[in-house]
Amino acid sequence: MILPPEEKTYHPSDGLFTDAHVPDFDAYLALYKKSTEEPEEFWADVAQEFYWKKPPSGQMLQYNFDVNKGNIYIKFMEGAKTNICYNVLDRNVHERNLGEKVAYYWEGNSPDHHQTITYNQLLRNVCRCANALKLLGVKKGDRVAIYLPMIPELVYTMLACARIGAVHSIVFAGFSSESLCERIVDAQCNILVTADGVYRGDKLINLKKIASEAVERCKERFCVVVKHHAFRTNTDASTLKLMTILLFLLCVLQTPWDESCDIWWDDLMDGVSDECEPEWMDSEDPLFILYTSGSTGKPKGVLHTVTGYMLYTSLTFKYVFDYHHDDVYWCTADIGWITGHSYITYGPLANGATSVLFEGVPVYPHVGRLWEIIEKYGVSKFYTAPTAIRLLMKYGREPLQRYDLSSLRVLGTVGEPINPEAWLWYYDVVGQQRCPVIDTFWQTETGGHVLTPLPAATPLKPGSATCPFFGVQPAILNEHGEELEGEAEGYLVFRKPWPGIMRGVYGNQERFESTYFRKFPGFYVTGDGCRRDQDGYYWITGRIDDMLNVSGHLLSTAEVEAALTEHPSVAEAAVVSRPHAVKGECLYCFVTLKDHKEFNRTLMEELKRKVREKIGPIATPDFIQNAPGLPKTRSGKIMRRVLRQIAHNEKDLGDLSTLADPKVVDVLFSQRCEAAA
Ligand code: WTA
Repeated sequence: MILPPEEKTYHPSDGLFTDAHVPDFDAYLALYKKSTEEPEEFWADVAQEFYWKKPPSGQMLQYNFDVNKGNIYIKFMEGAKTNICYNVLDRNVHERNLGEKVAYYWEGNSPDHHQTITYNQLLRNVCRCANALKLLGVKKGDRVAIYLPMIPELVYTMLACARIGAVHSIVFAGFSSESLCERIVDAQCNILVTADGVYRGDKLINLKKIASEAVERCKERFCVVVKHHAFRTNTDASTLKLMTILLFLLCVLQTPWDESCDIWWDDLMDGVSDECEPEWMDSEDPLFILYTSGSTGKPKGVLHTVTGYMLYTSLTFKYVFDYHHDDVYWCTADIGWITGHSYITYGPLANGATSVLFEGVPVYPHVGRLWEIIEKYGVSKFYTAPTAIRLLMKYGREPLQRYDLSSLRVLGTVGEPINPEAWLWYYDVVGQQRCPVIDTFWQTETGGHVLTPLPAATPLKPGSATCPFFGVQPAILNEHGEELEGEAEGYLVFRKPWPGIMRGVYGNQERFESTYFRKFPGFYVTGDGCRRDQDGYYWITGRIDDMLNVSGHLLSTAEVEAALTEHPSVAEAAVVSRPHAVKGECLYCFVTLKDHKEFNRTLMEELKRKVREKIGPIATPDFIQNAPGLPKTRSGKIMRRVLRQIAHNEKDLGDLSTLADPKVVDVLFSQRCEAAA
């Protein structure tokens, strides 16, 4: 095991959090103790905030995590009745007097497009959509597929499903027609809600065409289409209008339209009532399915249910972002991923928060777009991914200096281990050393944050997701399933469920149990490696399948990548294994350089030295390849499987459909290193 050198600890700024929900580390420890030792009382207190048609009574939590003792199951507040849509909308409007408060500032792909939506308006639009879905025959328990860009209709549709008890299955609107079809078929959806098209940056994507191809293959019944890309404009500029109309016509000409099943959203909503009685749901009724890729085979439909998810996303949002009523919160994720489900829709709305809903991309129409939006809305809590931070780092400080970012209070990150260099840039340059960087570790399966600092309470270490959230009990196991105490590195598992954990893989109990529970009976297995340091802090070392074993030493790819990206010329790095006759495995590194930096032998030597210095001679890379781009999924995750295959010279790369830009693979293959560096 290789431990990084002594880490410097960062303490949140004094005075920034005078009214914090959890003011210091002792307060965190006390609440954590209560959440694990008296979970019934802890969650009963949380539940009091919500509206219940039938209040929780009896046993809070029932579960089995041990495959040897029977089926795996988790039930939370079973028997209580509520509705999550009622709780995130009606309760705010009718009980908390927040009807005129802004729920979303929608900011389009083009800075000219924007819209403000209050809680009153949101409730009315959701009810209208709920009634429209009913008109199409959607009932409680039916599955509805949603393939929409980041527009208000996406939120309306998901909440409308929740209101009438339908189960939403949102498919990120960057997936191919084949992936969309696969998901529609697996969840047996009868209805698909999509849009005509969307601009991402300056690229027009004809969503309806992709949706039609998918629908043709899988024959679902109705396809509701939002008119989006051409007519959503706030500007009076006549040329712009003319251009958008022309583009619209062009798109319609190309857009397949089937009168027997296609319906325009506006036609469907026309004249429909904006009041809709919610369907009262049992706590354990399904809320949504969200597909996540498996390391092998088809994507898994992760299933979440109503009450546990509602309580957990609401509570994590409140504490992890230290939410207060006057905050303006912005999560840059897409609602097509779990981060958007939990921390754009359900968590913020449950708290009555004001959020930015952003359709665009970070560097369009200019590299300061994110900073411009922060200034425009006075964003106080900002949540993004390491990949976005590294992208923006490439452009230096100048684009930030043009904007006033003094409203910022908390900076969150999620999705992959954040390398210390990116952490420090986020902290120093974006947050001006005032704002804690909240590195939240979690998964589609966990529903909400499970390892995370709290802004005013937790001393920070760059690269560590620090400590468990309330109710979460992590453990570290070795290969034999033995629990490791104190400082240790191994498999990250959880010994007990918390309310927001997944309830199953849709339609496949066997896959649920074999993926998460069979390896170490009695534990939920995350699939991530993790190190616990002398202070009890947790450091995610990457997926277990990204671990390397060099001469019998376990090495984490994330640690090596962090060392490489510390070099001033390197923008991004990805490390995989390559078989080695003596060491078993050795390190094969792909590095993307910053603009105008040159890849040469001196640089390679410097990089090797850097890794040796940071980690030790055992981690010295054998191969370093210049990578103009890395193969990434549309959510920005590096696909290490593909890099591993390049390193191994495996020509058959299998399914590349989830890659944002499959062309990079050919480039990398053509420049593959044959001989060691
Ligand atoms: C990784 C995203 C390190 C991890 C919410 C996990 C992270 C997978 C972090 C889940 C983090 C997520 N530090 N690694 N803060 N957050 N991961 O399902 O490997 O898209 O298992 O959920 O992302 O990805 P998913």
